[in-house]
Amino acid sequence: MKKNRITIFDTTLRDGEQCPGASMNLREKLQVGRQLARMKVDVIEAGFPVISDGDFEAVHTIAREIKGPVIAGLARCVPKDIEVAAEAVKPAGKTRSRIHVFLATSKIHREFKLGKAQDEILRLAVNGVELAKSHVKDVEFSPEDGSRTEPDFLVEVCKAVVAAGATTVNIPDTVGWAVPEEFAALIGRLHDEVPEFRSGKAVISVHCHNDLGLAVANSLAAVRAGARQVECTINGIGERAGNAAMEEVVMSIKTRNDYFGDIECGINAKEIVRSSRLVSRMSGLLVQRSKAIVGENAFAHASGIHQDGVIKKRETYEIINPEDVGWGLSELPLTKHSGRAALSQRLRHLGFKLAEQDVEAVFTRFKVLGDKKKFVYDDDLTAIVGDQITLVPETWQLDYISVCSGNHTVPTATVKLKKRKNAKEFEHLQDAGTGDGPVDAALKAIDRLTKTSGKLIEYAIQAVSHGKDALGEVTIKVNFGDDELVPGKGASTDIIEASARAYLNAVNRFLNTTKPRDERAAQP
Ligand code: KIV
Ligand code: ZN
Repeated sequence: MKKNRITIFDTTLRDGEQCPGASMNLREKLQVGRQLARMKVDVIEAGFPVISDGDFEAVHTIAREIKGPVIAGLARCVPKDIEVAAEAVKPAGKTRSRIHVFLATSKIHREFKLGKAQDEILRLAVNGVELAKSHVKDVEFSPEDGSRTEPDFLVEVCKAVVAAGATTVNIPDTVGWAVPEEFAALIGRLHDEVPEFRSGKAVISVHCHNDLGLAVANSLAAVRAGARQVECTINGIGERAGNAAMEEVVMSIKTRNDYFGDIECGINAKEIVRSSRLVSRMSGLLVQRSKAIVGENAFAHASGIHQDGVIKKRETYEIINPEDVGWGLSELPLTKHSGRAALSQRLRHLGFKLAEQDVEAVFTRFKVLGDKKKFVYDDDLTAIVGDQITLVPETWQLDYISVCSGNHTVPTATVKLKKRKNAKEFEHLQDAGTGDGPVDAALKAIDRLTKTSGKLIEYAIQAVSHGKDALGEVTIKVNFGDDELVPGKGASTDIIEASARAYLNAVNRFLNTTKPRDERAAQP
């Protein structure tokens, strides 16, 4: 049977505006981008270039560094947005650059957000697509809030933007309103009424949000109805309740090929778990234990009846072989006796491409960890690398921390930090703080030294690997007074040290944040 290949369009890197609190820095985005390429996603939307210098830099760098996938930049139907997006994706070259323009089309958005009538929306959409087309061949248009747009008008918009040169029209369920049957009917209607969708000259895409927990179901229903691109994210991260989870979309199509028939996608499923962990670490958004495919419990069988069944025949209670999505594929753990070459080789195997000084820093922490733990697992290494990549320009570094705590003592932390004076020199500063508990005391000491005052809004700790000597990874969100939540991450076998590292990471991010561009607020 001739297969119908669907395009997997990944928006995991579209953070900041879209996914508050999950913003990744450039080095984190690059690592995730490399992993997305390794798992063979077709398109990476690397950001919204006009939004900030940081977003522009991320799209531009990913377009230059990441080979394989098409690289897309998001833009409103505003000339400045489109020109900046065109500049950002340029390094990907003629065959791999896409501009993704969007404009809201639903009645509620037209009337209350944009104050524009249908004909004006049509004109702006066509102008936006034409301008994008003058820069790149591959243009995608999204009628924002498409699922709540009057179907007749949506058909008109699709016809107009395709005539103007759009090669993909993406129908977003922006607010997670759709239900599968209804959404499939809408996609089916567009497929039937726009000749270019039927002929394959233009592709229907879908981009579903998860407000009612239906993002994956809606995406799959749309595929059955004629959509040939699915927009999704690793772990389902994204604005509010998130977007369709890529791993669920991909594994549904692969596992239920009896139902999806001729539909296939090019994703290398064995990379799914690795991608999930990397994204979780880089974004600071933890994966729920019972999350399908990538949650810790996704293949754990607690009930005796299930265990018995799985032992007799795995398929009695498992519809996916965990190894097919990358569970249990880690290599033999390293030990403190492993040398630099073994470590570098393992880092490459895990998909990291690090500068020499980063490998050196990872090696130093690996040796310290190796002294504390018998075995250093791939997950431990990924956490150490995560710490290293997460390092924003390090104005402050942890030198040491010593904590005095107990049920008859005021918890006190003594912290020594290194403050960068220039490329080579550091100033060493030490202070102490007391608090409600040892973590609070450590953070107070850091506040005194760095002259910041952060309020801890979220705090989560997770064991990275198994056993009593497991590395603990702390993920936090801090408010430094301007209502923006700054994420921070840190890992150590000592959870107070991991907390201090995470907090310093947030302090450094706060001190080195790129400010948004002025155009951010402008609407077309
Ligand atoms: O949800 C949405 O409408 C979007 C568009 C920009 C595609 O993210
Ligand atoms: Zn969206």
